[in-house]
Amino acid sequence: GKVRAPTHIISTISDDRGEEPCYSGVPMSTIVERGYGVGDVISLLWFKRSLPRYCTQFIEICIMLCADHGPCVSGAHNTIVTARAGKDLVSSLVSGLLTIGPRFGGAIDDAARYFKDAYDRGLSAYEFVESMKKKGIRVPGIGHRIKRGDNRDKRVELLQKYAHTHFPSVKYMEYAVQVETYTLSKANNLVLNVDGAIGSLFLDLLAGSGMFSKQEIDEIVEIGYLNGLFVLARSIGLIGHTFDQKRLKQPLYRHPWEDVLYTK
Ligand code: ACO
Ligand code: LMR
Repeated sequence: GKVRAPTHIISTISDDRGEEPCYSGVPMSTIVERGYGVGDVISLLWFKRSLPRYCTQFIEICIMLCADHGPCVSGAHNTIVTARAGKDLVSSLVSGLLTIGPRFGGAIDDAARYFKDAYDRGLSAYEFVESMKKKGIRVPGIGHRIKRGDNRDKRVELLQKYAHTHFPSVKYMEYAVQVETYTLSKANNLVLNVDGAIGSLFLDLLAGSGMFSKQEIDEIVEIGYLNGLFVLARSIGLIGHTFDQKRLKQPLYRHPWEDVLYTK
C-alpha cells in the first residue's frame, strides 16, 4: 500500500489547497454568502467550530470595546513614541502590543484561571481573595488605575448587560462580582476591570453554550486563548494611533526633564 512520508508540520484550522481557502472546513464563499462576521471567523480559527450568534456577537463586542482606550495607556503610549521615532507601522504596532501583559490587558487568562478554580472549588469570595493575599498574588481582573467603585468601567457594565440578556448562565461572572464586592470593601480602586469581566464571562460562554466538553474548556483555559481577544482588539487602536501620529507629522518624542526625578 501507500506509505505516507512523515510531515514536519501538522495543521488543523485552515486549508488553502482547494479552489478556495477554508477555515475549519468552511469555504470563504460560505463565509461571505452567509454574512459571517469577525466573531464567526474567530470561532472557526480559534475554537474550530461555528458558535451560536449570541456567542459570536459577544466576541465582536469584546473586540469593539477593547479596540482603544485613549493615548495615555501603556500600549498607545509606546506606539505613539515609536511612530514619532519614525518607525514603520509594524514596529509601532508591536511596540504597543509588547506592553500587554499581567498588568495591562493581558490579565484575562489568569482571571479566567483563578475565578474558575475558586468557583469550582466552592471558595467564598472572602476565602478566595484572602488566599491570594496570603500567596502575595494580586487578583487578576481586579483593580484599575482610574476606575473606581463610584466611577465604574462602562465596558464592564455593557458586557454584563449583554450576558444577562443573552447567556443561559452567568455564574462565573456573578462570582467575579462577589469578589469585586469584597475587594471594593477593602479599597475603592479594586473594581472588576474589563479583563476580569471578559475572563469570567468567557467562562460562562464556554460552559453555557453546550458547544465545549469539560476537557475542552480546561484546555482553552490552560493554554490561554483569551488574552488573544485583547491583543487582537487593541491592535485596531494601536494601528489608528500610528496613522494619527504620521498624519499629524509629530516630531521625535523626548520626555521633559521636569517630569523625571533625578536622584542618587
Ligand atoms: N488584587 C489585590 N490587591 C490589589 C490589586 C489586585 N488586583 N490591585 C491593587 N491592589 C492593592 C494592593 O494592596 C496594592 O498594594 P501593593 O502595591 O502593595 O500590592 C494597592 O492596591 C495599590 O495598588 P496600586 O499598585 O497603586 O494599583 P495600580 O493602580 O498601580 O494598579 C493594576 C492597577 C495594575 C490594574 C492593579 O490593580 C493590578 O495589578 N490588577 C491585577 C491585574 C489586572 O487585572 N490588570 C488588568 C487591568 S485592566 C486593563 O489593563 C485593560
Ligand atoms: C485600557 O483598556 O487600556 C484601560 O483599561 C487601561 C487604563 O489604564 O485605562
